[in-house]
Amino acid sequence: MGTAEWRDARRVRSRRAENDREDNIFNGGTRLESTRIDGVPVLRLSAWPANVANPPHSFALALADSTGSGSAPDPAENDWPDEDFGDDDEQEERRNLRPDFKRDFAEYSEGSTDWEPAGATTPLPLKLEWRQTAESRWQFDFQLEPDARCFALGERQSGLNLRSAVHTLFNTDDDKHIESIDSMYISIPFLIVWHRGQCSALFLDSPARQKWDLDAELTGNGRIELLSRRGWQLYMLGPGRLPDMVSAFTKVTGRSPLPPLWALGHQQSRWSYPDQDTVIRIASEFRSRQIPCDTIVLDIDYMEDYRVFTYSKERFPEFKQLISDLGNNDFKVVVIVDPGVKKDVKYQVFKDGKKHGLFCTTSDGKPFVGEVWPGASVLPDFVKPETRTWWAAQHGFYTDLGVAGIWTDMNEPSLFQNQRPLDKDAKELPPDNRQLFMQQAPEGPVGHFEVRNVYGLQMSRATYDGLLALRPRERPFVLTRSAYAGIQRYAAVWLGDNRSWWEQLARSIPMLLNMGLSGVPFCGVDIGGFYEDCSAELLVRWYALGIFYPFFRNHCSRLSCSQEPWAFSPVAEGHCKALIEWRYRLLPYIQQLFFEHARTGAPLMRPMAWHYPDDEFAVEIDDQFLFGEDILVAPIVQRGRTTRSVYLPEGRWHSLDGKQSFEGGRLHKMRFGLGQVPALVRDGAILPLADVMQTTRELAKSPITFHCYGDSGRGYFYEDDGISFEYLDGDFNQWRVSVENGTFRAQPMSLGFERPERKYQLLYKGKSQPVQLII
Ligand code: GLC
Repeated sequence: MGTAEWRDARRVRSRRAENDREDNIFNGGTRLESTRIDGVPVLRLSAWPANVANPPHSFALALADSTGSGSAPDPAENDWPDEDFGDDDEQEERRNLRPDFKRDFAEYSEGSTDWEPAGATTPLPLKLEWRQTAESRWQFDFQLEPDARCFALGERQSGLNLRSAVHTLFNTDDDKHIESIDSMYISIPFLIVWHRGQCSALFLDSPARQKWDLDAELTGNGRIELLSRRGWQLYMLGPGRLPDMVSAFTKVTGRSPLPPLWALGHQQSRWSYPDQDTVIRIASEFRSRQIPCDTIVLDIDYMEDYRVFTYSKERFPEFKQLISDLGNNDFKVVVIVDPGVKKDVKYQVFKDGKKHGLFCTTSDGKPFVGEVWPGASVLPDFVKPETRTWWAAQHGFYTDLGVAGIWTDMNEPSLFQNQRPLDKDAKELPPDNRQLFMQQAPEGPVGHFEVRNVYGLQMSRATYDGLLALRPRERPFVLTRSAYAGIQRYAAVWLGDNRSWWEQLARSIPMLLNMGLSGVPFCGVDIGGFYEDCSAELLVRWYALGIFYPFFRNHCSRLSCSQEPWAFSPVAEGHCKALIEWRYRLLPYIQQLFFEHARTGAPLMRPMAWHYPDDEFAVEIDDQFLFGEDILVAPIVQRGRTTRSVYLPEGRWHSLDGKQSFEGGRLHKMRFGLGQVPALVRDGAILPLADVMQTTRELAKSPITFHCYGDSGRGYFYEDDGISFEYLDGDFNQWRVSVENGTFRAQPMSLGFERPERKYQLLYKGKSQPVQLII
């Protein structure tokens, strides 16, 4: 084809894209409102079809009610039901517990947002137009500037820039984490469009299937296709800077409360440590080898026949004692809980749930049965408030045993025989009663596909609320695989069943960056890789990056070789140990970053563009990232490599030990040997560093070193009790520390926490000197 023909062909193609807009059949109700959130202009468009009585309610929002103006979950909605859940005394006792919603961290979201009606002619950002093209299909067309970049959308198997691909949001358990995988476990329909440092963003709040075509045909057009018979709300944010988008979005969907301190430490997991002796052996290896670790995670084999809310009396005969012994050695225990409840009439959880109609149903009202770990199983209907309350109460089983946190898994929900219940090319939804199963949303019965993407969110919410009700004075720790917008209010996430491949080590960076931009700060991937056999070198390199994952867990499958830090050679073990020790040294900095997230929505792992929006080169980089503002992480992600190029943005940068410094604004060839932390520190930063410790419990008393990088510097130091919600009442300490002309100052910003005795020192120009933090 000659150039002219080629040009013609392209023209025909883009005309085709234009024409392929179908007729608009919409004749329902709409509402357009506007507000400003954190200074960002926000438009909200609600639309509902003629046969739907009311405007849609929000599925995601922290501050959710139908108008979006509430400021905390409605306690009435979370009231424990009056029905009898069986005569089991324990059940009775549990259902009398009440969650204490006063402690809702929504406090940080600072109250309500006033929405004003906006004129129907208000221009929409990105020249957005929408239409209903079939009873259950909607299209949203928008324009993308040729050099615009696309970020966020939750969990995507992609580089940082999501452009020129189609992204399907329909939660799916697909363990083939290869380039062409589309739907994953998590869907967050929030897209940030970056254009020369200015951003706008779209958030389509609907838990039904969405396909986001981000200019896959290279015509400059974007299109969302939503399959739903119900209404939706579309938020349009901007213009603003990248941090503004995330701040406003997390103001709407909520921010993560501070995690319990122990959950920020090193977690060791395996599918599965099969019996209590193995667990004891693993735990004592950590202590005898002095490799820091806070948590042992128990996967599905701790249960009796994979029945949730049980443990195997045969393999874990002294379960409670085990947890208490581990506790005496400063280990917390996290257990997995799947949604699939074994269909067994002799099993209390099944009996109770069935009696009270708490499971998803077939169209004739019988519990829907699918195949998961326990065999034939039923699924709790988590969009139903009563189910959440009941599920929450079940967790008394674990808290009574001393279990510290809950890992909710398989909650897409995953069903062995039916991982893809909706054809990927489906252009319409089947009728409600043919959507795998039915659920009971507060507004009435609904087909599962309409709400599939909130199954994991609502399960996590129930779990979080349960832990909070059962231990009101402690911050719950919940980990989830499946999620939707707003998950950060309830759970940390990990990105599912990755592989022990170097490519997946590298890919974890942009994937986690997009999670952070989607409002989820507390995230990570399985360190060492889940499937396949890890190698010594890969494990060491994975730890070198993993110490910067906000969620820091080594986990692998039963089919893989062991990959605890000592599983390979003593040399590899030494490297892993040294790296994990750095994680613990960085804890004061990490705590400050979580605190910052709670106030501003900022993720911990940030793309370079977050702090260097005018640096065109930095914007494209997704094989290195910023951990907070001060640390630049540039890991080695290829086998056999010890050097890589690192792009340093403007200013000077220092090696972590402060001994070398580098000029910014250009690429450097750098060497990171095995076991070395692949990070640089911004000139002018002060990092608060703890001493090496074995668990986070030692942090309270650890001496703190303020390491000043450069001639002068600034930083923060945050501390609280690490476990309660008292920080919401101001019971925390925070200092702004600085060094000017060689003089150290610590300016208190909050002094609400009675602090333990500890020593402080300043490390400045290679010399240490004691300093005081004056109250
Ligand atoms: C799922 C989880 C994995 C877990 C396994 C067994 O595949 O993603 O982490 O180990 O189930 O529970």
